[in-house]
Amino acid sequence: MPLQILQHSLAQVWVAELRDVKTETARFRSLCNRLTAVLFLEATRDLMLRSCEVQTPLEDCEGAVLGSGVVIIPVLRAGLGMVPPILELMPEAQVGHLGVERDHVTALPRCYYSNIPEITDQTVIIVDPMLATGGSLLHAIGEARAVGARDLRVLSIIAAPEGVAMIEEKEPRVMIYTAVLDRCLNEQKYILPGIGDFGDRLMGT
Ligand code: URA
Repeated sequence: MPLQILQHSLAQVWVAELRDVKTETARFRSLCNRLTAVLFLEATRDLMLRSCEVQTPLEDCEGAVLGSGVVIIPVLRAGLGMVPPILELMPEAQVGHLGVERDHVTALPRCYYSNIPEITDQTVIIVDPMLATGGSLLHAIGEARAVGARDLRVLSIIAAPEGVAMIEEKEPRVMIYTAVLDRCLNEQKYILPGIGDFGDRLMGT
């Protein structure tokens, strides 16, 4: 199963507060930042390294640098909230953007904006806080593959079993990192229990 769920007590506490309808925008952003940072650290645990030499004030020793770059692709709009904590940890990461919206009637994804840098050997990390049907994410994975992405990973704060199953079926080599796997989707394709509309809560709209 290409799914890794955070096993961390603090993450569970933060998710509970994120879900709470009484949680206000500033706090919501802060919780989103923390959860994203932990997910990003998990998702980059195995990045390839090259050794280098480091001179400490006392002697030379062996150190490590990353073997290749990282490209972050937030799926607009909600994915934007996950970019600042990632850049805090890795300021040198490239950032592409992908605008995929869900048709409110058919719930099918529609791409309205795409700006992804050329990929050579970078690791590509698509960030979308709510993995619901998996449609937008599949679309994003396809766009990233079209510009050369091979090492692809997904960060989602909350995932639904339906979305995970879709990615597992169509893109079994893409690993999904999530803080929690929720119960199911409702008729409007919102995640239950979920947190409601992530973009609205993040942007305060
Ligand atoms: N997007 C959201 O913001 N919330 C959901 O529950 C599903 C998709």
